[in-house]
Amino acid sequence: MIDLSIPVAIADNLYWVGSEKTHKYLQCNPYLYIEGETGVLFDPGSALDGEIVIEKVKSLIPLSQLEAIVCSHQDPDLCMALPLFEKAGFKGVVCCHERAALLIQYYGIKSLFYRVNYHQFSYTMKNGSNIGFIFTPYLHFPGAIMSYLPKQQILVSGDLFGSVTADWHLYADEDYLDGMIAFHEVYMPSQDILASAMDLLDSYPLNMICPQHGSILRGTLIEEAISTLKTTPCGLFLETQTKDLNEAGGVRSLLDQILTRLITIHGTTEIRTIFKKSPFTIDTKLRKITTSTISNESIWEAFFDFLSEQKAGTQYLTSISSMVELLCKGYNVPLPKPLTSVLFSSQSETEENRRQVQVLQTQLKEFEKNLHRDPITRLYNQEFYLAWLQRELSGIATQEKIITSCVMNIDNLDRINLDFGSTEGNKTLRLLADLVTEYVEPQVQVCRIGGSAFALLYTSLGKEEVIKRVTQLRNAIHEDDRFIVPINVSMGIFHSSEIPQTLYQDPEQMALLVNQVTLFRDRLAKKQGGGIVSSSTSNPSSSAAFTVLLVDKPGFSRDLIQQTLEKNSFRVLTASNGLEAKKQILSEQVELILCELLIPKVSGLTLRKQLLATPSAGKIPFILMSVNKQEQTIIRAHSLGIMHFFSRPVALYELVGLIKILAKREACVV
Ligand SMILES: [Fe+2]
Ligand SMILES: [Fe+2]
Repeated sequence: MIDLSIPVAIADNLYWVGSEKTHKYLQCNPYLYIEGETGVLFDPGSALDGEIVIEKVKSLIPLSQLEAIVCSHQDPDLCMALPLFEKAGFKGVVCCHERAALLIQYYGIKSLFYRVNYHQFSYTMKNGSNIGFIFTPYLHFPGAIMSYLPKQQILVSGDLFGSVTADWHLYADEDYLDGMIAFHEVYMPSQDILASAMDLLDSYPLNMICPQHGSILRGTLIEEAISTLKTTPCGLFLETQTKDLNEAGGVRSLLDQILTRLITIHGTTEIRTIFKKSPFTIDTKLRKITTSTISNESIWEAFFDFLSEQKAGTQYLTSISSMVELLCKGYNVPLPKPLTSVLFSSQSETEENRRQVQVLQTQLKEFEKNLHRDPITRLYNQEFYLAWLQRELSGIATQEKIITSCVMNIDNLDRINLDFGSTEGNKTLRLLADLVTEYVEPQVQVCRIGGSAFALLYTSLGKEEVIKRVTQLRNAIHEDDRFIVPINVSMGIFHSSEIPQTLYQDPEQMALLVNQVTLFRDRLAKKQGGGIVSSSTSNPSSSAAFTVLLVDKPGFSRDLIQQTLEKNSFRVLTASNGLEAKKQILSEQVELILCELLIPKVSGLTLRKQLLATPSAGKIPFILMSVNKQEQTIIRAHSLGIMHFFSRPVALYELVGLIKILAKREACVV
């Protein structure tokens, strides 16, 4: 029994990360491919299951390490989750054909497109692994593509090889092909186009086919499915040649085909049950009507009348409508009356659609709400804090608003995590969140903005009053004996009167300024041994509080840089290799990393890549130095968000100048 509530490893480095509960007939399958430290996701899915897919992906790899999402085409059942992925932290590219990109942009996404037709239909992952794309125009979109993983010989096929069925399994069995035909005859435009795409596959060795709908195909089913699709009639709206009904076995044989389709889509049990009290005796194994009390002349209409009288009648008729239309056209048989009314009266379908849209909107709202919550404390998170700040600050010039922001950090959380484990650390965070929200007035917004930092936003009190209140809060926290050990917090405070008037028209800049200064003052408070810092940082001590981690092999050059920086009042920590640097970054307060490209153990670029996976460390500005500054390295450094790349020997006055600008920005001297 496969546990579908967690990602399922279906091949080396390839995972099914879908949700099996959100679809009734049309299962959606996203797949995640991981190579080295990064991943590529194929057809992320709809808004219905976006949250589940995101959680499953995150359980395997941080979203920041998802370098690309491949979209086989532009439909909502596979693209609607894209904006949700972006909100949750996806920063990679969207891989698709340019025709699909043209439409995908309307989902309101911000990610860059990697248009596969401009890149020889291939994509190279960061670790060097290749993914190939097979262009399948008009199947069923002019810019549709399939993806091919050459190492595993796996085809991630998009809509092709998909199927509709109520009886879904992760892996296809011998009953799969009928549901596959049902899907293709409706969604694919013509047999010729479909057959030529199948011919293309002859040159690809295949161990597995992973479609976006339906089930995964393995073994002999692969060959069977390809040859079935080579001959599947599709393109419902094209003229078809009339075939001889008698030769085909009369309407009874057409009804057997329709019964087979009903069983495929709705499952054996359901169809057997509804036909129990009917004028038709059916054999669900043979998928045939064995006997009937109705004459051959009336059986065609009677069959559809019977279906329409069932509780789920409209659903049954809708699910077979395209097939019946095709059969009627092909054998020149009149369209049964109940079906005509289904096709022309879409009232009930519209009702169902409306209901589904409502469910979708509620789920989206819930999802968006959760996106702004910190999962440990359930407080609002940093994203919300910055948005809230921006909104409140936008009226500062005209509405005489007063805003005081306080960032509070638990000084000894690392120690608690180390001594008692992260469960106790999380308990501490939750307890502190409860304590603070109980202590402050309801109008004070309390957020957890990452790690051990919380933000408190006061909207009507002067700075002195806020200092008084947070000092009392600080003492109350320290004295509370519910914590495993006494908690020390340091605080930084910033008041909106400190914002220069030149920024009043730019709420985004104001919010960034408030955030940076408050954080900086909080760090200053921590460095000074805890307490509260609220004064302006425009004093000489600001650069003394600014710590540079210098990562380089010991020697004359490193000593020279260190002495120069210290002479300029910066605090300098040193590390001799990448591993040592990583340890220091995670345990020390570091404001800037100055790193040699070729350092032992973990290279400068790999170190940066690893730091990007840790939200707090990834934000630390990173400067690279090397004697060998080549175009390829510069491009890579640029893609990793490296701030500056110095040629060695470094011009020291230039280096000091740059770091001074950064320190000033960090301190936000106003
Ligand atoms: Fe589609
Ligand atoms: Fe689809």
